Amino acid sequence: MTSVARRDYSLTGVESSRAEERGLANAQWFQADIDPVRLRELSVRQNSRPGIDLAIWVALIVASGVFAWSQRGSWWAVPGFFAYGMLVGGSTDARWHECGHGTAFRTQWLNDLVYYPASFMLAREATYWRWSHFRHHTDTIIVGRDAEIVFPRPPSIAKLAWMFTHIEGGTSMMRTTVKHALGKSDDNIDVLVPESERHRVFTEARIYVAIWLATVVWAILSRSVYPLLLIGGPTFYGAWLVLFFGVTQHAGLREDQLDHRYSTRTVLMNPIFRFLYLNMNYHVEHHMFPAVPYYNLPQLHAEIRDQLPEPMPGTIAAYKEIIHAFREQAKDPSWELPRHIPDVPGRRGPIVQGFEWAGEPNADGWVDLGPADLAPGGLQAIDINGAALLLACTEQGDFALVDRTCTHGDADLTNGTVLGCEIECPKHNGRFDLRTGEGTRRPVLTPLTTYPVRVRNARIETDLRGLTPIVTNGGGDA
Ligand code: FES
Repeated sequence: MTSVARRDYSLTGVESSRAEERGLANAQWFQADIDPVRLRELSVRQNSRPGIDLAIWVALIVASGVFAWSQRGSWWAVPGFFAYGMLVGGSTDARWHECGHGTAFRTQWLNDLVYYPASFMLAREATYWRWSHFRHHTDTIIVGRDAEIVFPRPPSIAKLAWMFTHIEGGTSMMRTTVKHALGKSDDNIDVLVPESERHRVFTEARIYVAIWLATVVWAILSRSVYPLLLIGGPTFYGAWLVLFFGVTQHAGLREDQLDHRYSTRTVLMNPIFRFLYLNMNYHVEHHMFPAVPYYNLPQLHAEIRDQLPEPMPGTIAAYKEIIHAFREQAKDPSWELPRHIPDVPGRRGPIVQGFEWAGEPNADGWVDLGPADLAPGGLQAIDINGAALLLACTEQGDFALVDRTCTHGDADLTNGTVLGCEIECPKHNGRFDLRTGEGTRRPVLTPLTTYPVRVRNARIETDLRGLTPIVTNGGGDA
């Protein structure tokens, strides 16, 4: 049997440069065509639905934990800890994920309130994994770019089975955290986490290690393994549920495709799974439109399903497909699952909702941008002398004019979501304050340029004398 060549999946190897050369890094991806008004409706956040889901989830964890603890020394502790571990070490993943995107709750601090404890419960360093996941969304399953490719080719069914124990994965995560607690960096941190954020990685790692050590001391003093089953242990014995759902997302599908329909899988699941997994079974939809909160993904699926491949009818069918793909790819890593992709145009750029301004400034230097009829939450692209601007109306009804390109990547904010006085970028859920341009949510680190606006006689006006192309005919200061 001939040995099969293995690609370099590291972020610093030959495949990383190759992905850049092939235009696969930070590229434009296919998106299904959807009415922008409907997309905006689906991107609206609330606090009540995720609050109820969270309350049920916390109640289940407390109930299973109290039951398991009360049954110490009895066989009843086994199902008790099984349920507790599955909830803490498994179902936390979906809460971590949704709150990491900032899409679960309308109130932003509520997302963070869940995200940080959830990160600890999964032994995931909060800041590192936040940045790793931004990259996963930028370059999904692009070899050399995405640090979250779980099954490098050639895959192995034995490895898949072994992963469910999470012995290797959990140990590796804890070992990495200890290394970071000692102040040692690594390639993934250097590549993914901006320098200004790296101190957070080390601080968080120290907090995690301190809690783990305190738990070990508790276990030693009490001469009992139970404290370890409560804290830290679920990372190992409960993580099978993370794998159970997570494997269905991308395993066996194509690498290096700028179209999530080839690299990502949607699986129809039952209501219990969907509660535990927070609807992430609609994974193609999530990757295409990450601004849509989990509770609106079924509606998004209904909206765009004609443009997507047929979803897997269930979890068992998804696993059958994955095992079939693994068998074939173990022999020939270039083997691909047949995938029927509807022949629809879709789009790879912004939804066009704008116009090119070609007027002249008024006598006082302000320019007329048209009637002030943008509804609250509305966005309109305006090109002025080559400058890409965005007119926005906050949910309070105030107007703002800002640069249209996100300062984190090159995403067009025309497809963003207005939330209160902020705009959320459609690519990684970074946010800007529309009034000041200040970045209010990671991964945004650089503010957005804002321009003055006023409403006169029910028309929008702006003073563009600060805009370089207007003042200097394309030259001059930035
Ligand atoms: S491109 Fe990343 S937040 Fe906008």
